[in-house]
Amino acid sequence: MVGTLTRVAAPCILFSAAFFLFNVPLAPGPSGIPSADLKDKLDIPEASAHGFTLPEDKFSWEAIAPTEKLIWTDCYSDKQCARLKVPLDYAHPDAASAAIAMVRIQSVVPHNSSNYRGPIILNPGGPGGPGVDLVLSRGSQLSTIVGPEFDLIGFDPRGIGRSTPQVSFFESRSEREIWSSNANSWTKSMNESADALSRAWARAIVEGQLAGEREDGSLRFMNTDHTARDMLRIVQAHGHDKIQYWGFSYGSILGATFAAMFPGNVGRLVVDGVADSENYYANEWDDDLIDADKVWSSFIDGCVAAGPEGCPFFSPTAAEISENIEKIYLSLRDRPIPVRTNTSFGLVDYSRLRRVIFQSLYAPYARYPALAQALADLSTGNATALYKMSEQPTFECGCDDSEHRFEPVSEGGLAVICNDGQRIPQAYEDTVAHYQKMSQMSAWTDVWEPYRISCVGWPEFPKNYFRGPFVANTSFPLLFVGNTADPVTPLWAAHKMARGFNGSVVLTQDSAGHCSISGPSICTQKHIRQYFLEGILPKPGTVCPVLGSPFPGNYVQASADAQAVLSLSVEDRTLFEAVRELATSLDGRFPARV
Ligand SMILES: *[C@@H]1O[C@H](CO)[C@@H](O)[C@H](O)[C@H]1NC(C)=O
Ligand SMILES: *[C@@H]1O[C@H](CO)[C@@H](O)[C@H](O)[C@H]1NC(C)=O
Ligand SMILES: *[C@@H]1O[C@H](CO)[C@@H](O)[C@H](O)[C@H]1NC(C)=O
Ligand SMILES: *[C@@H]1O[C@H](CO)[C@@H](O)[C@H](O)[C@H]1NC(C)=O
Ligand SMILES: *[C@@H]1O[C@H](CO)[C@@H](O)[C@H](O)[C@H]1NC(C)=O
Ligand SMILES: *[C@@H]1O[C@H](CO)[C@@H](O)[C@H](O)[C@H]1NC(C)=O
Repeated sequence: MVGTLTRVAAPCILFSAAFFLFNVPLAPGPSGIPSADLKDKLDIPEASAHGFTLPEDKFSWEAIAPTEKLIWTDCYSDKQCARLKVPLDYAHPDAASAAIAMVRIQSVVPHNSSNYRGPIILNPGGPGGPGVDLVLSRGSQLSTIVGPEFDLIGFDPRGIGRSTPQVSFFESRSEREIWSSNANSWTKSMNESADALSRAWARAIVEGQLAGEREDGSLRFMNTDHTARDMLRIVQAHGHDKIQYWGFSYGSILGATFAAMFPGNVGRLVVDGVADSENYYANEWDDDLIDADKVWSSFIDGCVAAGPEGCPFFSPTAAEISENIEKIYLSLRDRPIPVRTNTSFGLVDYSRLRRVIFQSLYAPYARYPALAQALADLSTGNATALYKMSEQPTFECGCDDSEHRFEPVSEGGLAVICNDGQRIPQAYEDTVAHYQKMSQMSAWTDVWEPYRISCVGWPEFPKNYFRGPFVANTSFPLLFVGNTADPVTPLWAAHKMARGFNGSVVLTQDSAGHCSISGPSICTQKHIRQYFLEGILPKPGTVCPVLGSPFPGNYVQASADAQAVLSLSVEDRTLFEAVRELATSLDGRFPARV
């Protein structure tokens, strides 16, 4: 969930990054999760550096006509694609329509077998995250977790990516790029300068005006209520009436919305990395960071524990590490560092460092080792590694924008946030008061506040959509999954949301990071599989451990972890490899497509 400075091809995608988990393409970094040196003994494939590269989107989505019945076309070598025709406005189903782009990984079990268990619909978060990309980049690992009896379905939510009509406020990619990469960039820390907050506010007013002036009448229908209805259509188009769903991050808001709107249509519903939906719809954004400081402490304490061999930014005490970070902040405030790589160029400044660290909190197993190295380099004045952690391809101004027609753009997520959320006062003083209140709650408010601000200038569409209450006797109990230290979806939100859904259970994973798959836990993923396959919920109060630490750590610990892996059954090892690949490949970066 969050971005880059020099931008780049998908600039303001930051918006869609709030509650977003996945990014592509990625190379797994070094991490303490045992595998590499055990590879020979275990005879398991290493997560390859190209394992998560998104296939080039050569598939022609426009060539398949949107239909009310599902018609699958082969795509991306071994998958199938379809565009489902749905009403743009469910209050007027016979008027204009929208087309939802979907991709499917088919179950290994034949559909006419009694073991076939139907489709599971996935949502990667955002809002604004393209589910097609999730299935293309991580579908095989997720499929290993849930098992061969299920199809996996990823869809780009209405307004987003390959689904049409697409939300876009800019007249060309270049116009978007110029706006997003100039000095107004909203990806700045609100603590970078005295006017950072007021600039973010002013910027949001302009974007709100653009949104209102340049939309064709479809913008107001891009909301979570309608996306939940679209999901019901997807389920029905498969010939089922009950959903099977696994939603991450913002996907927990979408899942809770679906369950509250259609309690009788719940087959299996997992929400993982649970946001407080009420707070989100109230456009408050003020209880997400409850555990963020705790996650940051996990980096510092983990570095101390890993020792100088395990953590390049090591100091003997947490206090010293904090002081060393503070020194880097102050130095970057005075003197940003220019960086030139063989593919791009830019500056490492205070804002960039803040964002890179915050992104790292989402995915400790993928990012902590690299972050520790980058900080160590920074303290000697070398900013290259830090820059590379957020490097994005240089923007290329092609002649033909239509080639990029289906790329997700930041406005999609923004539209969902602002259409869903209660109107907030436009007065700048209100923004200041909110920021001050938030600053008391977390040290990471400076990178979080922009999400709420971004709606101050939003057009006044009617708010006659479902926005709660989140209470229901669902036709099957929900499974909530939360980590003990999640930077943006704190565990208490899982407990709060679970109270509204009769019979639901909260499964806790004892790890830092965003959503269960940020940490490698065989226990968690087995519970999720058991829930989908057999309908068995974990016992209330279940806490799952993870295997291995984000830092390579000391030899004794690494050996113990290695032994633990060696003692796994073949089946568990396969599962472990899938969760390890997921955990080490997650990336807090803004979801930029290739
Ligand atoms: C399932 O479908 C396949 C091919 O469509 C067919 O060969 C097979 O006999 C079917 N199996 C059953 C149990 O109906
Ligand atoms: C802003 O940055 C200064 C200096 O780095 C720090 O002391 C202060 O706590 C920060 N304030 C907020 C609200 O993040
Ligand atoms: C840039 O350098 C890296 C290693 O330093 C190399 O792997 C990569 O291929 C280079 N890219 C280009 C476009 O030259
Ligand atoms: C800075 O660090 C990079 C690795 O990230 C290294 O390749 C480069 O040589 C270093 N530059 C200097 C001047 O030491
Ligand atoms: C759930 O069912 C119970 C009893 O059957 C009922 O009292 C309660 O109002 C129901 N809750 C909701 C949200 O429908
Ligand atoms: C939960 O559902 C059961 C029946 O399924 C009902 O008896 C009970 O009252 C419900 N509880 C609440 C709090 O709605």
